[in-house]
Amino acid sequence: MNNLLAISDLHVSHAENRRLLDRVVPSSPCDWLIVAGDVAERMSDIRWALERLSERFAKVIWAPGNHELWTTSGDPSAARGEERYRELVKMCGELDVLTPEDPYPIWEGSGGPVTVAPLFLLYDYSFRPDGTSTKEEALALAYESGVVCTDEVLLHPDPYPSLESWCEARVTETERRLQELDPRIPTVLVNHYPLVREPTRVLRYPQFAQWCGTERTADWHRRFRAAAVVYGHLHIPRTTWHDGVPFMEVSVGYPREWNRRGGYPGPARVLPA
Ligand SMILES: [Fe+2]
Ligand SMILES: [Fe+2]
Repeated sequence: MNNLLAISDLHVSHAENRRLLDRVVPSSPCDWLIVAGDVAERMSDIRWALERLSERFAKVIWAPGNHELWTTSGDPSAARGEERYRELVKMCGELDVLTPEDPYPIWEGSGGPVTVAPLFLLYDYSFRPDGTSTKEEALALAYESGVVCTDEVLLHPDPYPSLESWCEARVTETERRLQELDPRIPTVLVNHYPLVREPTRVLRYPQFAQWCGTERTADWHRRFRAAAVVYGHLHIPRTTWHDGVPFMEVSVGYPREWNRRGGYPGPARVLPA
């Protein structure tokens, strides 16, 4: 048997998480690994982790998280927004890691065939807190409460005028590609953020949900025949079911988080189910 495995939020800039990478190994030589974003912030750390994983797994499939897209002073690359994303895609190409810009691969192993689609969709502030009806109101409430995602400082939309417009462009183009897939083959949809809002309902700070996805993908798991949806970002590893489809949050999270849970159990198995 071979496995389609998944992990996210490796955050290898933390030394304990760096060591934990030794435990992210295949159980068969044909295993594939999905990496659903937040590997690290610096290009050198992202490369270090993806290179090790691509040496171990038959195929590695990556979708970007917000942390990879940050423009930080500690990184030799000063690229912002779309340009930074293109640098990441180029680096993945050098490492033989698939990205949302590649043709979607078909998993023919146990539980297949399924089309594995890594998506880069961002968010558009539409998961708004109760009592707010615009992005401005949602953001204002977040600033008042002091719970504001670091993206507001480090994630730039260039050359788009806003994160929402970059998100809209990504959603439109991705939707077009998914519509062109063979309708007889189910999919595994991979995105850093959940495609439906429900998993964000358990966030400790509900106002944080505005940085966690878009309402525009709410029916994608049904429309595009998902056998599973894989995501991260929330640092709440668990599986929830929506219209009979498993939504798997596969994050490692920060050391204090996985230590509190009694350790990291290893990558999640997506297929065979
Ligand atoms: Fe994360
Ligand atoms: Fe994230």
